[in-house]
Amino acid sequence: MRLNRSKGSLLRAISSNVTVILIAVILLIVNNKNVDLAKAEDPYRYFTWTVSYGDMYPLGIRQQGILINSQFPGPEIYCNTNDNLVINIINLLPEPFLISWNGIQQRRNSWEDGVYGTNCPIPSGKNFTYTIQVKDQIGSFFYFSSFAFHKVAGGYGPIRILSRPKIPAPFAEPAGDFTVLIGDWYSYDHTHLKTVLDGGIQIGLPNGVLINGRGLNGQSFTVEPGKTYRFRISNVGLQSTLNFRIEDHSMKLVEVEGTHTQQSTYSSIDIHVGQSCSVLVRADQFAKDYYIAVSTRFASTTLTSTAFLHYANSVTPATGSPPLGPTSQYDWSLNQARSILTNLSASGPRPNPQGSYHYGSINVTRTLRLSSSAGFIDGKQRYAVNSVSFVPGDTPLKLADHFKIPDVFRLGSILDYPPDALMHLGTSVMAADYRAFIEIIFENHEDIVQTWHLDGHSFFVVGMDGGLWSPASRRQYNLKDAISRCTTQVYPNSWTSVYVSLDNVGMWNLRTEFWARQYLGQQFYLRVYSPAESTRDENPIPKNALLCGRATK
Ligand SMILES: *[C@@H]1O[C@H](CO)[C@@H](O)[C@H](O)[C@H]1NC(C)=O
Ligand SMILES: *[C@@H]1O[C@H](CO)[C@@H](O)[C@H](O)[C@H]1NC(C)=O
Ligand SMILES: *[C@@H]1O[C@H](CO)[C@@H](O)[C@H](O)[C@H]1NC(C)=O
Repeated sequence: MRLNRSKGSLLRAISSNVTVILIAVILLIVNNKNVDLAKAEDPYRYFTWTVSYGDMYPLGIRQQGILINSQFPGPEIYCNTNDNLVINIINLLPEPFLISWNGIQQRRNSWEDGVYGTNCPIPSGKNFTYTIQVKDQIGSFFYFSSFAFHKVAGGYGPIRILSRPKIPAPFAEPAGDFTVLIGDWYSYDHTHLKTVLDGGIQIGLPNGVLINGRGLNGQSFTVEPGKTYRFRISNVGLQSTLNFRIEDHSMKLVEVEGTHTQQSTYSSIDIHVGQSCSVLVRADQFAKDYYIAVSTRFASTTLTSTAFLHYANSVTPATGSPPLGPTSQYDWSLNQARSILTNLSASGPRPNPQGSYHYGSINVTRTLRLSSSAGFIDGKQRYAVNSVSFVPGDTPLKLADHFKIPDVFRLGSILDYPPDALMHLGTSVMAADYRAFIEIIFENHEDIVQTWHLDGHSFFVVGMDGGLWSPASRRQYNLKDAISRCTTQVYPNSWTSVYVSLDNVGMWNLRTEFWARQYLGQQFYLRVYSPAESTRDENPIPKNALLCGRATK
């Protein structure tokens, strides 16, 4: 539209016929590049972030944490569907640093994904500008420090992608919209924890739970009586499933990682590490202050943190103890997970209903069975997927692929199914075809909850159950209205199946969200490849791309 208007004004301004022809030729050329132009029409938002260490006291003990623009949590990214985000990160840490964007799909653009498999870390004292388009996305996500073991030190913040104005949300506009980042936390500095892990020793359980960076003196969320508020909750933590609840208030779940859900009402919700969701809460109780409680699940010791729902006219503080979470272990959580479904008739990022993509009638072209394991290699604790414990290459994999640098990784270094082999180290990269439609079965033979995340994509969580997966398990798949999201849990001694359309060319990280395990090898990369090697399928390497390792030559 805007393009047509500028064409019109240009033409009016021109008197000479020759010039008219020249301009017409230029416009023709420009029109052929309409992919770029379409992108250029979407608004740009600019951010400059300075990353530094600072003292913080989230659990009352002084710690060195990562601050962004002197804040913890970091500043919120607030944007609309299709906006272009230009984020200049100035690294004032004494070591290299990267940020990754959990759930932001980076269409055709794994160049900006911000994990070490795709990007060189930003050297100390240098900057790097990410250019990201939040193409066809809505909803609640977060960013985090992805390099080294930085995630344990903070350096995370919320991302909120609003629908374009003309696309209706399947609920009335709430009176307010709050961000709630929850996560478990260690009271040790990350350098200490990293040293322990590097020594091949487990780091034990976290020491507390933070709500928006605070483990003590909980924040108050102020509400007007009778009005409805949206809470966007992300579990930005390191390993613990967290239960979220508000005393005497029910919550209507409306969104999960960018998908509008069938709106069910819950008194508490389990949010697994790496997951995000939105709930609506109506301030329909007696005007006082109420506890908001967040506590760890499935652990022998429950850690709890509180914040407050404060009615604007309240003079009565919250009293008594915070409400207790569910006592049942896995069944309650599994049943809740199965009740989280896509609202097929609601609009998503586009005006057409979310149910217009009939994933259940697409033929699966490949099945992956991914099994996690823990073990020791050379006396050191390691974790693996299909027996391969990932070790980073000397060069980011995406750059090695682009510059055809040999011997950084080998396609086929991880198999499609758990092999009968001992755990070993490897720079595991799996080859995958662009536009393949694959089934991934996450198999968990351990007694912890696992959580898996795939960069660059959303997947349909078609089934989860206890016991061993077998082809007969497919009979219970939900092929109609399974939730589409980017992070899924797998209960202990259970399986979870997802369907994913590999519609995004690039090098994509598939990882556990259990951060110590991720750090010690429980991850790999999926190289989604199109033989066309066309810029229609994948953006060219960014002009400002940092080069490192063997890519510097
Ligand atoms: C660093 O920031 C400057 C602007 O301050 C910018 O021009 C430059 O492109 C940035 N460097 C990278 C690698 O993005
Ligand atoms: C699904 O979305 C529609 C809006 O398109 C809304 O009217 C309806 O209430 C929603 N259904 C559920 C179960 O949330
Ligand atoms: C899926 O596979 C079935 C049986 O192999 C075939 O008949 C059908 O045409 C396929 N559907 C699509 C959409 O490719």
